[in-house]
Order: sequence, then structure tokens, then C-alpha cells
Amino acid sequence: MRWSAVVLALGVLSGCDGGDEPVAAADFGEELFQDARLSESSFNRFSCATCHVTTPQTPEGRIDSGYSLYNVTARPSWWGGYETHLLDAVNFCYVNFMRGVTKLEEEDPRSRALYEYLARISPDAQAPALPFTVVKDIDDVPRGDTARGEAVYRAACQNCHGATHTGEGRLTELASVLPEVTQDYDQLFPGIPHARVVIEKVRHGQFFGVGGNMPPYSAEALSDADLGALLVYLGL
Ligand code: HEC
Ligand code: HEC
Repeated sequence: MRWSAVVLALGVLSGCDGGDEPVAAADFGEELFQDARLSESSFNRFSCATCHVTTPQTPEGRIDSGYSLYNVTARPSWWGGYETHLLDAVNFCYVNFMRGVTKLEEEDPRSRALYEYLARISPDAQAPALPFTVVKDIDDVPRGDTARGEAVYRAACQNCHGATHTGEGRLTELASVLPEVTQDYDQLFPGIPHARVVIEKVRHGQFFGVGGNMPPYSAEALSDADLGALLVYLGL
């Protein structure tokens, strides 16, 4: 983050002259949204934009764990009703996925700027809350078509994990090379089919005792049909 931007945003928020070209708080918020350095952790490579688009419709070629944040400030609740304060909904991501050490506080100018940005992309006052169905019990899924699986990999996994077999272009060295990571599964999870371990990882992310910091994919975010196609593409 650029300190000049912080100072300018503070100027705008407190109503004083921010200089020759004042950066509106919402513009500063948009910068923060796209910048992994919003988190102080040197291990973090994720920005809000890694997992959330901001357009009314999801663009072709993207399947994200998180919903589009278009209209987000108008929704009456978040995370399928688990969160009733927007900043708590944001902090859940900030702390768990972006390794933010402490939560963003209400008074923090960065929280204010993020809010102004999210409000700007929320034109419809009546936007409904969105469902969030955690797939708790892990069952096998019907296998699909490998060409669809490749498209799903590119849309959902490639940004973080990079190319299959090499990890080339991955967002962070911490993201495992797929599907090679499964070679250790016989030792780590004896007797459990490799595909099931991958299904559990995708459905639970870092939660339910799995660990790491990958986000979970709800039933709404990724269908069993797409997951089944992805497994075939990964040779599982
Ligand atoms: C690693 C992926 C990831 C990152 C990074 C991330 N989020 Fe999320 N976010 C999710 C997932 C998964 C959910 C749960 C599904 C949903 O509700 O969108 C979620 C939910 C939310 C929600 C609730 C949406 C709703 O209507 O239920 C908000 C608001 C939100 N995130 C904002 C942010 C902001 C702002 C940032 C950056 C500070 C951020 N997220 C970073 C994955 C992420
Ligand atoms: C926002 C970034 C991100 C996205 C998107 C993502 N992953 Fe991950 N994934 C990670 C990171 C980081 C790790 C290593 C840390 C961990 O285990 O959570 C990981 C680990 C894994 C592992 C290894 C777990 C183990 O055995 O240690 C598997 C399998 C996996 N991801 C599958 C997927 C698949 C399949 C997709 C697409 C549907 C996907 N991931 C999407 C970031 C991501």
C-alpha cells in the first residue's frame, strides 16, 4: 500500500483538502481490495480480488469460492446468515485466508475505505442474502468429462495452484502441485481413496480440522458435477 494513498484517504475521510488530486475513499478502497499487502503477513499472497469478483454476473472462466461482492453492502446478512455485520464477514476472510494478524477495526481508515468501495458497487438496495451450503459429509461424486474438468481447473484452481504437474505460475509456493501432492496420500491417509481426500480439501478448505489456508467451496460455489469432472482431469 502506498502511504501517499493512506494520507490522501485520511484527508478525504476527515473532510480536509487531500492535495492536488485527492483520491476518493472509494478509490482507495478499490486499491486495497486488489492488494495482497492489505494483510501484514509476509506469507500472504491473497487479495480480496483473488476470491471475489465485483461484477453483476460472474465472468466466463472464473469459478470462485467467494461470491461476487456486487450489491454486497445491501445484503441483509452474509456467509449464509452466519454473519450479521459486514465488517465481521470481511474479517472472517481477512484473518482466516489472508493471515491478517489482527482484525480490521471499525475506525481503521482502511475499513472505512473498503466500505466506501463496496457501497459504490452495491446499487440495488433490495439485494437478498445469498445461500451458503457447507458440504459437511464427504461422499464420492459422479465422475464427469475431462474437457469440462480442464475448464474447471483453469477457472477455479489454476490462479492459486498454477499449471498441473509443475505448479508453474502459481500465486504462492505454499500452494501444492496438483495432482502430485496426492502421491503422499497412501502414507498420510492409508486406505482412503485419493479422490476423497481431494474432495474433502475442496469442500472444507482449511476448516473441520483439515488445516492450511485454502478457502472451502460451498455447494453453490462448485457443483458436484464440476468437481467430478475436475477429478477426472486430475486423473483421480
Ligand atoms: C481465499 C479466498 C478469499 C479471500 C482472499 C477473501 N474472501 Fe471473502 N469470502 C470467501 C469465501 C469462501 C466466502 C464465503 C462465500 C460467500 O459468502 O461469498 C467469503 C465471503 C465474504 C463475504 C460475505 C459475502 C456474502 O454475501 O455472503 C464478504 C463481504 C467478503 N467475503 C469480503 C471479503 C473481502 C473484503 C476480502 C478482502 C479483505 C475477502 N473477502 C477476501 C473467500 C475469500
Ligand atoms: C485462493 C487460493 C486457492 C484456490 C483457489 C485453490 N487452492 Fe488448493 N490450496 C491452496 C493453498 C495455499 C494450499 C496449501 C495450504 C493448504 O493446504 O490449505 C492448497 C492445498 C491444496 C491441496 C493439498 C492438500 C494437502 O493434501 O496438503 C489440494 C488437494 C488442493 N489445494 C486442491 C485444490 C483444488 C482442486 C482447487 C480448485 C477447485 C483449489 N485447490 C483451489 C490455495 C488454493
